[in-house]
Amino acid sequence: MSFNNQITSEEESIRQKEIMERLKGRIADISKGLGRPLTYCSICFGCQMNAKDSEKLEGILETIGYVRTESEDCDFLIMNTCTVRENANLRVYGRLGQLKKYKKKNPHMMIALCGCMMQESLVVEKIKQSYRHVDIIFGTHNVFKLAELIETKLDTQSMVIDIWEGTSEIVEDLPSERKYDFKCGVNIMFGCNNFCTYCIVPYVRGRERSRRPEDIIKEIKELVADGVVEVMLLGQNVNSYGKNLDPQISFAELLKQVEQIEGLKRIRFMTSHPKDLSDDLIEVMANSKKICRHLHLPFQSGSSKVLKDMNRHYTKEQYLELVDKIKTAMPDISLTTDIIVGFPTETEEDFKETLDVVRKVRYDSAFTFIYSKRTGTPAASMEFASTDEEIRERFDMLLNEVQGIAKETCARFEGTIQKVLVEGVNEQDASLVTGRLSNNLLVHFPGTPDMIGKFVNVKLAKAMGFYYMGEAM
Ligand code: SAH
Ligand code: SF4
Ligand code: F3S
Repeated sequence: MSFNNQITSEEESIRQKEIMERLKGRIADISKGLGRPLTYCSICFGCQMNAKDSEKLEGILETIGYVRTESEDCDFLIMNTCTVRENANLRVYGRLGQLKKYKKKNPHMMIALCGCMMQESLVVEKIKQSYRHVDIIFGTHNVFKLAELIETKLDTQSMVIDIWEGTSEIVEDLPSERKYDFKCGVNIMFGCNNFCTYCIVPYVRGRERSRRPEDIIKEIKELVADGVVEVMLLGQNVNSYGKNLDPQISFAELLKQVEQIEGLKRIRFMTSHPKDLSDDLIEVMANSKKICRHLHLPFQSGSSKVLKDMNRHYTKEQYLELVDKIKTAMPDISLTTDIIVGFPTETEEDFKETLDVVRKVRYDSAFTFIYSKRTGTPAASMEFASTDEEIRERFDMLLNEVQGIAKETCARFEGTIQKVLVEGVNEQDASLVTGRLSNNLLVHFPGTPDMIGKFVNVKLAKAMGFYYMGEAM
């Protein structure tokens, strides 16, 4: 199978839409028989990529006639899984066990599992053996097939399993149910080719595939016409976007095209791998009126030795130089990161290098993880240089350091007036609304629901640690 050339499968898209049309009738019949609408509940674990896939799954379910509910006591439950760390896995099994009772009560109920965990054959075996109440299992490569899988389930009444090893196919133009009216994630690429030695993602998400720029631009224009003002361009390593497209295009060039879209106000992207972050990208960002002043730049470890063992392709010094370059070009940028503590070859000395990077860069926030062994990855067979207790201690120390610095860093805009996009009414206090700054921090301020989706100038009156309290100007 070839992974690198892109086929945009229009035929597949048409076929799926026909199936959805047929299913609509069948779902309506079942609904009539029961005398009530059929409901679906969508649960999603993991990263933005999974969240985006869930929006697509929800789009299909809504199209065929299911109505959304937050209750797991529903007619169709879909759980989109993550397997990046062991605890992500365990949560799914826990949840699955609890679902049995609903299925007993409601024999029409269907349970579907999809996402990264399902790409692991041992997981599928375990579900087949021990969780017989699951109806449909599929993976990360065939999300667009949900309607077809439901149809097969209705026809055969037995467990439907459809896992693809990989794909070169990108099926465009299917429905998607957006979580917010005013902002939306947009896939620009799928998969990952980096094979960091600790990481399972390349195995469960397949090889890197970029969408054609014209397809991306078309999607964003449609979103903007539908009220979206902010997009988040999504990929495991957006900086290598376009490398395998013909003609080639860089991420910086794509950003320039996206910037031209009239009506679009803000552009974000996730995630940047330091090894591929180009000077062009920094320049495009610095000159842009729309690209937000936020960069998520995972460094994983501060030790060049550990970075080598992780197969990250940069050293501590190169990372720090890159950060300097970025900060010089954009002094107001917010940097965030991911850090792993307890990678097998990490010693106390290596960990000190990690602390050193944290102190030098002064992140606005950092996601810290204890290394989790993923079977099948190269790191899984490496011997540990430290004990669990040592690793735990390092983790606590790092968290403390990261939080202390983040509190100070986040406060640096106190007293300034910033443009924020209002995202919703505050959950604790309905007299407040919550807005997001360009640099991704949140500010709560007195406001009304009609502000949602609009830009407001807000004075950041008081820094509260990781957010601000403010007032509209
Ligand atoms: N593609 C992104 C990261 C995706 S996974 C990137 O390269 O930046 C999100 C984060 O999970 C990673 O940055 C890493 O910090 C963490 N992670 C991945 N595998 C892990 C593992 N086996 N144990 C602990 N953390 C892990
Ligand atoms: Fe995993 Fe590395 Fe790919 Fe990120 S770049 S998804 S950490 S293999
Ligand atoms: Fe998890 Fe898959 Fe994302 S493993 S982090 S949901 S790509």
